[in-house]
Amino acid sequence: MRKILFVCLGNICRSPAADGVMLHELKRLGLEANYLIDSCGTSAHHVGEPADKRMRSHAMKRGIELPSISRAFNSSEDFEKFDLILAMDKKNFRDLKSMDSSGLNSAKIKLFCDYCSNRNETEVPDPYYGGAKGFEDVLDIVEDGIKGIIKSYEK
Ligand code: 4NP
Repeated sequence: MRKILFVCLGNICRSPAADGVMLHELKRLGLEANYLIDSCGTSAHHVGEPADKRMRSHAMKRGIELPSISRAFNSSEDFEKFDLILAMDKKNFRDLKSMDSSGLNSAKIKLFCDYCSNRNETEVPDPYYGGAKGFEDVLDIVEDGIKGIIKSYEK
């Protein structure tokens, strides 16, 4: 079982998009039984909320549901539970690294965009205060990275 956790700030836009796109792709490929996928935020500000309505409606236009309910990263459980912890941006990456005070989980923490091959971004820009294009960009970058993640495990 591959266990992958996507992490952004609020866990209502970018990491729910990665979570939903990954689940969608795994189902399409018949691989969902081999993976445990989850998402969370470095902040607890939106705990208990579903993904942002704008994020969900842009995803739904592509036929993708975003089932996440926001929760905060839990350093006493998540480092141990997951094999790969993917930060959606560099600030999330730094925050995760600082929560790994022992450094023992360092190799598990990576930037989501390390798995992109068609997009040049090094992080997934926060769409929260922007317009429709920001949400479409999130989905385009996420779809590229998810293909790379699945390829890295299934090659
Ligand atoms: P996310 O986006 O980290 O992709 O879920 C954000 C959600 C909420 C806020 C910022 C970013 N906020 O400031 O409330």
